[in-house]
Amino acid sequence: MGTMSVDFSSEVALVTGAAGGMGRAIAVAFARAGANVVMGDVEVDGGRETERLVGEHGVGAVFVPTDVSDADQVQALVATAVDRFGALHNAVNAAAIENEMVPLHECDDDQFDRMQNINVRGLFLCTKHEIVAMLNNDNGDDGRGRIVNIASTNSFRPQPNQPAYTASKHAAVGLTRSAAIDYAAHGIRINAICPGSIDTPMLRNAMERRGRNADEVAARLSRLGRFGTPEEIAAAALWLCSSGSSFTLGHPLAVDAGYLAS
Ligand SMILES: NC(=O)c1ccc[n+]([C@@H]2O[C@H](COP(=O)([O-])OP(=O)(O)OC[C@H]3O[C@@H](n4cnc5c(N)ncnc54)[C@H](O)[C@@H]3O)[C@@H](O)[C@H]2O)c1
Repeated sequence: MGTMSVDFSSEVALVTGAAGGMGRAIAVAFARAGANVVMGDVEVDGGRETERLVGEHGVGAVFVPTDVSDADQVQALVATAVDRFGALHNAVNAAAIENEMVPLHECDDDQFDRMQNINVRGLFLCTKHEIVAMLNNDNGDDGRGRIVNIASTNSFRPQPNQPAYTASKHAAVGLTRSAAIDYAAHGIRINAICPGSIDTPMLRNAMERRGRNADEVAARLSRLGRFGTPEEIAAAALWLCSSGSSFTLGHPLAVDAGYLAS
């Protein structure tokens, strides 16, 4: 389940949040499809492990420790793709945090700022520098480049007690749509994915903090009665970066087992 067979050989992909969860699955999927992959994350051990897994596919693999909320570090991450592999063609921005369980009047001001710094400013900085790099590419059959931002079903339908996360994920879709219409004519296609409940460390930690049972959560939030896999998000990300989606832009693609439909 959740495999996507597209040929990305001779292309370069950049993935943030690559130390685990969806980011790791997306980096490995690009490698399996033949792309050279540059990876960023604050978590160095996990990032190095993803670098190793990507390298097993015989492609170029470079992990760069990166805090996406730091402009210089994001610029260095994007520069690595261009310096090591000559260009940047595909980027998936998956880095984010989710660690709150309070209603808005109890939301700590600094906590709110930290969430927006990583989830919104981080997405802004990554998208910005990826666009700058892609504008240098030739405008080929499927344009100069593709960017996918990982948003959430929370971008449209909030879970309780997540005011800062929900605000940040609404912003992720707004930022994606705004950039998508501005860069369509420049040959850069920008879309978002809105994952439902996907079995990653983020979901497992959130359930543990709330004392929730995995079977109950899966039954309530997924019409398939199970969590999605990171590989199912990777398959969607690769499709959005492939020429198969050449007429799709500015779209927040729900990969959520029907959660937003119900
Ligand atoms: N798991 C789910 O059910 C779910 C649902 C909807 C949306 N999402 C979104 O999917 C994306 C991937 O999440 P995941 O579930 O794989 O979680 P995850 O926690 O496994 O992965 C997120 C990664 O982002 C990294 N990160 C955190 N702060 C960073 C920073 N400042 N700079 C660089 N990297 C940083 C973490 O170290 C981690 O490796 C996130 O944007 C998340 O909000 C997840």
